[in-house]
Amino acid sequence: MVDKIRRTKIRQILNDGKSGAELCVKGWVRTKRASKNVAFVALNDGSTINNLQLVLDAPKIDEQTLRKISTGASISAIGVLEESQGAGQSVELLVKEIKVLGEADPEEYPLQPKRHSMEFLREIAHLRPRTNTFGAILRVRHEMAYALHTFFHKKGFVNLHSPILTASDAEGAGETFRVTTLDLNNVPKNDEGHVDYKQDFFEKETNLTVSGQLEGELAALAVSEIYTFGPTFRAENSNTTRHLAEFWMVEPEMAFYDLDDNMDLAEEMLKYMVCHALENCKDDLEFLNKRLLEEEKHKPQNQRSEMSLLERLQFVAENDFERISYTDAIEILKRSKPNQKKKFQYLIEEWGADLQSEHERFLVEKHFKKPVILFNYPKDIKAFYMRQNDDGKTVAAMDVLFPGIGEIVGGSQREERLSNLEKRMEEMNIPKDELEWYLDTRKFGTVPHSGYGLGFERMIQFVTGMGNIRDVIPFPRTPGNCEF
Ligand code: 4AD
Ligand code: MG
Repeated sequence: MVDKIRRTKIRQILNDGKSGAELCVKGWVRTKRASKNVAFVALNDGSTINNLQLVLDAPKIDEQTLRKISTGASISAIGVLEESQGAGQSVELLVKEIKVLGEADPEEYPLQPKRHSMEFLREIAHLRPRTNTFGAILRVRHEMAYALHTFFHKKGFVNLHSPILTASDAEGAGETFRVTTLDLNNVPKNDEGHVDYKQDFFEKETNLTVSGQLEGELAALAVSEIYTFGPTFRAENSNTTRHLAEFWMVEPEMAFYDLDDNMDLAEEMLKYMVCHALENCKDDLEFLNKRLLEEEKHKPQNQRSEMSLLERLQFVAENDFERISYTDAIEILKRSKPNQKKKFQYLIEEWGADLQSEHERFLVEKHFKKPVILFNYPKDIKAFYMRQNDDGKTVAAMDVLFPGIGEIVGGSQREERLSNLEKRMEEMNIPKDELEWYLDTRKFGTVPHSGYGLGFERMIQFVTGMGNIRDVIPFPRTPGNCEF
């Protein structure tokens, strides 16, 4: 009976497996090399990027079983661990019994032992977790989520479960996904001929949340420091390598923090995450590092990055971020104009314009060559809840910009003064009656407070070096794309 001993995961075996131990392993075949007398099977069970080599006494295994042990098939094996004779692995399992649990017909199984393009893998998103690259990404993603919870827990922050169904548009950008139970073929109308949402499930218009911030503020003004971590949804029609319609966001919100405190926390958190990855995802990062170096080889010399993935992570962990005001950044962008090739010809002309990702990347990658925190943005390009500065033109906003990514964090000190907030909402045509609950925090026991949102997938992109955001979330949702 193959199943009589408890299964050991390959990660544990490779870390501290003892020679001579009898073990049971289960997993999926990556490759098989067979000769008349011996067969070598590289087995992976997803617990690590590394495979365990199984050594099979070929003549003792029936031909049919041997044939079924093909790339992608699942197997269970019992054997004795031995120091490996061959190069490339420290131990191997001399197999005594082997059972094929599930075949993977080589004629049909799309994942063969070679490098597949990311585009192809996106088309088979249901199988791509079985590739080395996606296995590594899934594990790094998990470690990053764990690191975030640990970071905030150690600081005494409370994890707030903010709602996914809401009646508000926190960012006021009109990019919400509507949620309704109404029959779209027979929508009820009110006396004015408009859709009668009173007859809908919640008796009002509702949508999927774009941000948990407003609810986060409610809790922060009660328990001081909170963070949310969950999926958020934006129906923005952007087909870029940095936008998803469903992405995960981490949103800390802190009472009694000003903008400087906010920037300090964001920088500390990002460095903590990078350090955690460097310490806890060594094998996966080494694999991803090699993968990227390989990819870079195919790029023209001038488009290759100066640092490898591992060097970039080390650099971010060890160096202070640059902090600079929007106004000073505009000056740099203006001054840099004559030196730039065509690509940067449309650098900022006017104070007040929003920065495009080219501008952000210019500041980070060409000018400062390190992460940059931009602060004090013009109020007209930012959300209604940001605290107005005394100059009457800017708000206490901050964005963290990362190399290869651009904006990774967006946040601000919040407008805690009721009259200022009401005035700004009026100017921006935000109906007061829908946000009475929010305004109550300013009416009763208001305090200075701040917060920010980290785009979790953008951070995973940075840590794994993946160029396309669709490749760092298991099931990407983008315009026209919601396969399953
Ligand atoms: O800058 P944003 O829109 O800020 C907010 O939502 C605030 N309520 C956050 C806060 O202060 N609590 O989004 C925050 C971050 C961005 O910096 C970016 O990293 C990420 O979320 N992000 C996206 N990531 C992937 N796909 C999208 N469509 C994204 N939109 C924003
Ligand atoms: Mg933003």
